[in-house]
Amino acid sequence: MKYSFISYGSSNITPGAPADYDLFTRDGRVAVTKGEPLSPAIAGLLRSHSLFRLCADLSVQTDVYRNSKLFESKDYLAAELAVEESLHSLERHEGIDLRALQRHDPYTFRHSLNVGRLSYLIGKHINLPDLVLEQIVLGALLHDIGKLTVPADLLKKTGRLLPEEYVLIKTHPINGFLKLQEVDLPPEVTRIVQQHHERWNGQGYPLGLQGEQIHPYAQIVGIADVFDALISARSYRPAIPPYHALEIIIKLRNRDFSPNIVSCLLDAVTLYPPNCLIHLNTGELGKVISYDKNFPTRPRVLVNSESSPDNPLVLDLQHDAEHFIQVIEYTGERNLKILIVDDEQECANALADAIAPAGHHCRVFCSSAQALNQYNVIWPDLVITDVRMPEMDGLTLLKNIRDIDGTARVVLNTGYGDMITVIEAINAGAYGFFLKPVEIPEVMKLLQKAQADLDSLHSRQIIKEALLDENIQLKQQLEQLTIAN
Ligand SMILES: [Fe+2]
Repeated sequence: MKYSFISYGSSNITPGAPADYDLFTRDGRVAVTKGEPLSPAIAGLLRSHSLFRLCADLSVQTDVYRNSKLFESKDYLAAELAVEESLHSLERHEGIDLRALQRHDPYTFRHSLNVGRLSYLIGKHINLPDLVLEQIVLGALLHDIGKLTVPADLLKKTGRLLPEEYVLIKTHPINGFLKLQEVDLPPEVTRIVQQHHERWNGQGYPLGLQGEQIHPYAQIVGIADVFDALISARSYRPAIPPYHALEIIIKLRNRDFSPNIVSCLLDAVTLYPPNCLIHLNTGELGKVISYDKNFPTRPRVLVNSESSPDNPLVLDLQHDAEHFIQVIEYTGERNLKILIVDDEQECANALADAIAPAGHHCRVFCSSAQALNQYNVIWPDLVITDVRMPEMDGLTLLKNIRDIDGTARVVLNTGYGDMITVIEAINAGAYGFFLKPVEIPEVMKLLQKAQADLDSLHSRQIIKEALLDENIQLKQQLEQLTIAN
């Protein structure tokens, strides 16, 4: 992700005042985390414009988990399946309506799914038993259910919260906990909901629990909650690159989180996968050789030197304040997430089996209504659907999916007699068609096109971010010139 540093922009730079943002040094190290009181030295640095906050484009919503490859794709897929299973079990549970949260505040619903996946990955990494993982994922999915009692406008508010508004938002863990007392759930699950904002130093809420008084499952969900919030774009601040988010969390070790939980998160995340390319602030390109997990933004980098291309340089960014990482580019084959919908399970399974060897992940649904219901949980890259199905035909499914996601890629399997459907499907935005019986080489060709389309979409997003970033810098320069004159 392309990002830039901009000036603090707060009028309150008095020692002791809480920082309004996470603040970084020019070389990208975290100096102060949001809410931490400003020391006299930090206030001095702010006045001399030596500390900055991060800025990125809010309108660009990239899927950070998929684009940054923070986790092995098979592990991430297992986490997605675990979350879907728990979501199903909650949908069967009387008295719990997580979809109401989706209608109330779509961000919180999406965030809850991400926190479920992250919590699963952390728990799996430390070999927690399946039953424990199930409880953690359930608790993670429900952790913010109490936000149903907070007005939606307040949850989406872009400006600074008034003290009374903050008090109202802080009621959500206890309200969620109380609501779940009415339903039959394991106590561990409701403890997660109640305690996910408790902090290691006792400064959290609602109970002010401290250290090991906080339930360990709530500690896992609590750190996943903060990590996902940091790397997601919000209405009031941009997404933070994952490596900076980890640095912020490291800074919160012993304050907000136990050292053990921080280590678990650091171990679960793959920050620099082997095929990633580093763009340094100097314009040089490099590859990460190794890094100390306590200093994730300062790896050892092998840099291609223009003056002597045969002798690449090794830079240790921990001891080199001149260089810092500007962009991480992730290369390599993109595996697609594909939803296959067909009321004839055998046909759907045969197609999935034919596609799987190419490394793509297929999910099969025999019910079109169920596929539609799960669309915005799975967010597939591509949907391949049969046309004639009893519950909802493929064309209606296409239209419904495009209502949820205007960029959805939906391919229809049509028979010779479906020409009218084909014309209607083109108008409804179908991505392609397969004529039955489906020829696998045709399918693979279309999957390659989808991969190429996704890659170019990602590149366009990077370019857009870079242009907006330049725009921000130009505006800043203009502001400074205006002040100087
Ligand atoms: Fe929360």
